[in-house]
Amino acid sequence: MKKKFNTSIFISGRGSNLKSLIQFSLLKNSPIKINVIITDNIKAKGLTYADKYKIKKKIIKFNDKRVAENKILKILTHNNVKLICLAGFMKVLSKNFIKKFKGKILNIHPSLLPKYKGLDTHERAINNKEKFSGCTVHFVNHKLDSGKIILQKKVKILKNDNPVSLSQKILKQEHKLYPKAIKKIFINF
Ligand code: GRF
Repeated sequence: MKKKFNTSIFISGRGSNLKSLIQFSLLKNSPIKINVIITDNIKAKGLTYADKYKIKKKIIKFNDKRVAENKILKILTHNNVKLICLAGFMKVLSKNFIKKFKGKILNIHPSLLPKYKGLDTHERAINNKEKFSGCTVHFVNHKLDSGKIILQKKVKILKNDNPVSLSQKILKQEHKLYPKAIKKIFINF
């Protein structure tokens, strides 16, 4: 079996993408092994998956971003982390942090970027009478939701969709898209 790349997932909340990535990482042919979960939120529901799957978890307060990021960098180095996947992580990482992991940080966003960066994507797409929305996995650069796109999945917006129904449909696709995007970047693995 090929050696898997040590990966860290950063979360702030529910952690459904974390769960799908953990399940993906456990597949024999997956290129990643998740060895540390990082959160800024001690109450993140997703932390239960760290316990369930016996993965190390680290809770880092972001009162001072520089201090927090330095702590995280130490943890990542200590765990020999090669890839970071942001999955509902609500803090914006600094330029300096991103530079240290250049090309090695991925994010998932619930819209067809470059449309609807930031929050409330589903509501804005519906209000603008879009026919489609979807989700995007992209590399992280220093601008919010703006790095190079790896993969996207379109989802149709139906007449009776509301932000909740749309978010549920898109989330289902997110859970498939993130593993697919990881496979794509490790194509020669
Ligand atoms: C997802 O919709 C993701 O695209 C966005 O934040 C949400 C996180 O959901 N960045 P979960 O915590 O993975 O369930």
